[in-house]
Amino acid sequence: MFNALARLMREIVITWLIRVFTTNDIVRYQMLKLIADEINEKKLTGCVAELGVYKGDFAQRINRQFPERKLYLFDTFEGFDERDVKVEKEFDTYARKNDFRNNNTALVMKKMKHTRNCIIKKGWFPETAENVEERFVFVSIDTDLFAPTYIGLKYFYERLEEGGYIFVHDYNGKLYGAKEAVQKFSKEHNIPYVPLSDLCGSVVFSK
Ligand SMILES: C[S@@+](CC[C@H](N)C(=O)[O-])C[C@H]1O[C@@H](n2cnc3c(N)ncnc32)[C@H](O)[C@@H]1O
Repeated sequence: MFNALARLMREIVITWLIRVFTTNDIVRYQMLKLIADEINEKKLTGCVAELGVYKGDFAQRINRQFPERKLYLFDTFEGFDERDVKVEKEFDTYARKNDFRNNNTALVMKKMKHTRNCIIKKGWFPETAENVEERFVFVSIDTDLFAPTYIGLKYFYERLEEGGYIFVHDYNGKLYGAKEAVQKFSKEHNIPYVPLSDLCGSVVFSK
């Protein structure tokens, strides 16, 4: 009973935090628009993607900015996976299995304006990327956690078109391991990034 109540409270706080931090972040939205205009004006080819969609609030903006491009939506849609949470323990973060579990794909698809271009990849990333053979021009990585952020950066940077961009959210979020993943990837591959002054301190990689 107590555990169920504690989990419910945690879920409410997470939903509230996401509302506050992702639905009022003008700097993040303006960066997305500026970058989308740049990509579209240059007529670069490639798909767009979000890894870590949750209820689709940022994904719907990606969909609006790139109406003609395929949008891959990667998420468990059941919250954090135990395998990632185990890795997170090394960083002593707040991650718990199934945080963000209160979700479903129908709700996400309802928010998309150009649904015909949306491809839901439900399940644990990187498993869900196994049969995806695409190049990308824009990717938002917003899983919060070390493991999927680090593997996501490796996966998407390799498949990023020249002139493309990757956003990583929550670099300055403090609660989970995304920052460590960005720094490790950048150092190992000698690829620089630019920090942004949006609400959670995102970073941008370009190619
Ligand atoms: C902070 S939320 C995403 C918020 C969303 N981008 C927005 O702006 O509203 C993090 C999401 O990442 C997902 N996630 C974390 N690790 C994952 C993994 N390995 N594979 C798939 N999804 C994952 C969680 O299920 C959760 O929905």
